[in-house]
Amino acid sequence: MHKTIQDIVNMKKEKRKISVITSYDYTLASLCDKAGIDVLLVGDSAGMVMLGYENTIPVTMDQMCMFTEAVSRARKNSLLVSDLPFMSYQASIEDAINNSGRLIKAGADAVKLEGGTTMAETVSAIVDVGIPVMGHIGLQPQTTMLSEGYKVQGKTKETAMKLIEDAKELEDAGVFGIALEMISHEVAQIISETVNIPTIGIGSGVNCDGQVLVVQDLLGMYDNIRPKFAKRYMDLSEDIVKTLEDYKKDVESCIFPAKDNWFSMNEDELKKLREQLGS
Ligand code: KIV
Repeated sequence: MHKTIQDIVNMKKEKRKISVITSYDYTLASLCDKAGIDVLLVGDSAGMVMLGYENTIPVTMDQMCMFTEAVSRARKNSLLVSDLPFMSYQASIEDAINNSGRLIKAGADAVKLEGGTTMAETVSAIVDVGIPVMGHIGLQPQTTMLSEGYKVQGKTKETAMKLIEDAKELEDAGVFGIALEMISHEVAQIISETVNIPTIGIGSGVNCDGQVLVVQDLLGMYDNIRPKFAKRYMDLSEDIVKTLEDYKKDVESCIFPAKDNWFSMNEDELKKLREQLGS
């Protein structure tokens, strides 16, 4: 049985930190699950790291459903949360409920959406139909064009107060957790101490109840953007390129494939074939 929402909520009560990692495909999701990561997040960051878009705006529901299905086939132990992409929940509550339902049918246990107080009504409507929701405040990549852009949030008293209010309203609306993206670590700590639900930080300091990273950032496989908060645990892109260069050389010099990598005919059959062909 995989982890449940209640397991994740209990981790905060038991003061155990929650590990979250993004996942979009079967192979990497299987490894994340095997490593015991608590939550797999099918983030709309897929738009950038999987599909090569400049930002998350173009991501569609169909794409998020496909990634969610792939990850759900891989996971055995982790909780699976999927992002509602841009314009799949903002225009109407009906859209929000229908699209949340699509992600659940694709295999997610819960959905995540961006926004604070303005999304409270939408959150409670989704929760009311029985779909768990995770909030996401601070830097909200789907609307960076409208807000302050890719900047640390909550550096002044006013913006800090707004973030605290956002977190409280989301909690009242029924979210089971909140992602805090690029919020000053002091404000992230205050929010984490204020709400009873887990906070999952990304670029928001060590005092959140858990942490999330984009898996390609952690593995050092995505080089277009290197945010300060995204610790690269390895430089996989370098290793991958080097390995592919080795493969290319082996193909060119007929070192690959070798005897171990190919299949042979039965010798008698080969003899008969040669006789028939007169060779
Ligand atoms: O889409 C995403 O990857 C996210 C996390 C980084 C929080 O929303």
